[in-house]
Amino acid sequence: MDRPPVWVMRQAGRYLPEYRAVREKAGDFLTMCHTPEIAADVTLQPIRRFGLDAAIVFSDILTPLAPMGVDLTFSPAPQISNPVRAPEDLDRLEIPDPWKGTEYLSETLERVRSELDDDTALIGFCGAPWTLASYLVEGVTSKAFTQVKSFAHHHPECFDRLLDTLADSMAAYLRTQVESGAQAVQIFDSWFGALSLEDARRWALRPARRLLEATNDLGVPRIYFANGGGHLLEELAGMPYEVMGLDWRVDLQRAGKILPHHALQGNLDPGVLMGPDDEIRRRTMAMLEKAPRRGYIANLGHGITPDVPVRAMEVFVGTVQGYRYE
Ligand code: CP3
Repeated sequence: MDRPPVWVMRQAGRYLPEYRAVREKAGDFLTMCHTPEIAADVTLQPIRRFGLDAAIVFSDILTPLAPMGVDLTFSPAPQISNPVRAPEDLDRLEIPDPWKGTEYLSETLERVRSELDDDTALIGFCGAPWTLASYLVEGVTSKAFTQVKSFAHHHPECFDRLLDTLADSMAAYLRTQVESGAQAVQIFDSWFGALSLEDARRWALRPARRLLEATNDLGVPRIYFANGGGHLLEELAGMPYEVMGLDWRVDLQRAGKILPHHALQGNLDPGVLMGPDDEIRRRTMAMLEKAPRRGYIANLGHGITPDVPVRAMEVFVGTVQGYRYE
């Protein structure tokens, strides 16, 4: 391709009127995820509308926790009614091996792959151990992460064990996704930036490496999105993944210098899509000019938000699609 490929994190979501229509009919988010016909249709909605270069399967990072015995609901924010708060809570976590309990996702992947043309990639995903552990302990999306840090500081060995368990189970989960048709996978470490250097090394990088090493043989590109990890790019460069997903705080040129052997993805501030068309074009062009000429995937620096106008997404995607490498 003579321009970078483009897709957008959370591209199937509430900013799309056709998504809201399906969501209203289905009733709730988990029903959508669990019904392959609906999940496949919603996965394809942004592909039909914008002609993106990749589809990301419609699901959530938290849905695979249900087969582990976690009671999870969404309204629309995720909530876990039986969070892990004490070491004995770890004993009731089950690890299906081989991975079971998300057969609906395999069927969704197969359906989507059969409907995509050969030029459009299908991306599977999972949460990274630290990000999943923060939900498992907090039970909700947290701002201060006090519960999970309290657990980790009081029971450090136990917390390491939890992170290892999540790394191993997510490795198995990604494997089933690749077997069902995923041609690339993204590992979302959305809350990486909540950690100090020392804690990022022990609680985020170490278990993420374990997950990555367990998926080295999958034979598909792995994108590691370490949101808020720009200050640790040198250490991130030593990890076994193929693509670094960058948030919007990172300078792309600097990332290219520190990670010359990895492809890069990102990193437009999703908030730019709340601005006027000209500003979206200008900021998108500036990002493309800074990006490496080889091994670069255009994307936002985090998920698109529900209040973004469809028009803004058209301008962003259209600007990348109209761009040509010299
Ligand atoms: O990218 C895609 O289009 C694929 C689908 C996808 C969803 N969630 C669908 C979803 C993906 C890749 C995710 C990942 C996810 N889920 C992450 C990592 C990405 C990130 O943003 O950092 C996280 C942290 C979650 C947990 C989660 N699930 C949150 C914080 C929310 C939103 C709560 C809110 O108030 O908006 C969800 C729910 C969710 N996941 C929705 C969608 C479309 C909204 C559900 C609805 O329609 O009501």
